[in-house]
Amino acid sequence: MQFSNNVRPLFESGRESGIDRLSDPNLIKFSIGNPPDEGFPIERIKKASQELLESDPCSMLSYSSAGGRADLKQAVKNFLNRRYETVRENDEITITGGGQQAIALAVQLFCNYGDIVLCENPTFMAALDTIKGMGGKPVGVKMENDGIDLEDLEEKMRTLKPRLLYIISDFQNPTGISLPEYKRKEICRLAYKYDVPVLEDNPYYELRYDGEFIPFIKHYDQHGYVALTSSMSKIIAPGLRVGYVVAEGEMGKGFSLLKTAVDLHVSTWAQRISCKLLEDGMEDEIAHLRELYGHRGRLMYSLLQKYCHRDVEFTKPQGGMFIWVTMPKRCDIDAFLDELAQKGVMVVPGRQFCPDGGRDCTSFRLSYSLASDSDCERGIKIIGDLTRKYLGI
Ligand SMILES: Cc1ncc(COP(=O)(O)O)c(C=O)c1O
Repeated sequence: MQFSNNVRPLFESGRESGIDRLSDPNLIKFSIGNPPDEGFPIERIKKASQELLESDPCSMLSYSSAGGRADLKQAVKNFLNRRYETVRENDEITITGGGQQAIALAVQLFCNYGDIVLCENPTFMAALDTIKGMGGKPVGVKMENDGIDLEDLEEKMRTLKPRLLYIISDFQNPTGISLPEYKRKEICRLAYKYDVPVLEDNPYYELRYDGEFIPFIKHYDQHGYVALTSSMSKIIAPGLRVGYVVAEGEMGKGFSLLKTAVDLHVSTWAQRISCKLLEDGMEDEIAHLRELYGHRGRLMYSLLQKYCHRDVEFTKPQGGMFIWVTMPKRCDIDAFLDELAQKGVMVVPGRQFCPDGGRDCTSFRLSYSLASDSDCERGIKIIGDLTRKYLGI
């Protein structure tokens, strides 16, 4: 059987989602960036679903406008613009099957087979699969403590002629790092200078529990080079599979045409639920999530400080779900991660996030989204003890 060139790398990567192992109660799950059950607004979803099905059942069950319902697009616009101007008059919003689909559409929109997509090194591992699966070639740009290295970015934009930059602006997956304002502005300038469109992916934006909100990269874009994607996954529920991509002019049109060509639109039921929740206001739920992640993130960080060997480095996120832990190069990271897994602590090896395969990567990602206080204490103590075993006292 002849598969397309696009699909071959996916067979080779052989990555498992890990979701199926979630039900094992003996494991400490620092590997999965899922919202916890107590984060879902279950009662509100029930109520909205019941009310809408009773009052207007056919509009829940029928086709909706290609590319998404107008009322949901307006609700997304209001939501995104409530702090800073993000969506402008001539922007188009396309409702997508989560942010994941927006990544796929962006690659389809800009790349022919084998074209380069720049992304952070490390970056969201599922995005790497998506880029490859759509025929793009992900190439990593170095990261600094405050996000993408602008010099390396400019050099690669100039010399590699990429067709797209994929970048995660807040609480990056996997590092937890957020871009400062000056980098956001500079990314816009470089995108325009080198004619490289940008997909800004920001599903964690609302989950800031420390520091001030910074406008999206898109806010600083004067030339229509930046498309923004986010979703309901981290503020309502990922199972809805409702996301969106906002882009100006031709690019916005392109997303909408592609989405329509691929699968017409996202489930009408899910769109209507999302719309009702956004219209009725999500501030209380989002405040609850910030508190929840804030507690878990600060606790995990302080336990890493308490238990880990002094040569171990870890990021200090101001929101989101992830901490990136880096062992010194002298550590045998494979043996370390194997032993950690044997002890029942699930983490994600850093190399899975590296566009180049990350042979030298001695990092791993921790997610605190599902960690109860006691699991966090127990799991980080196991990690800390192991860091001392592998690095000496
Ligand atoms: C950085 C990033 N982008 C996109 C997604 C996809 O989210 P969804 O498709 O559920 O909106 C995730 C999910 O974990 C993510 O971490």
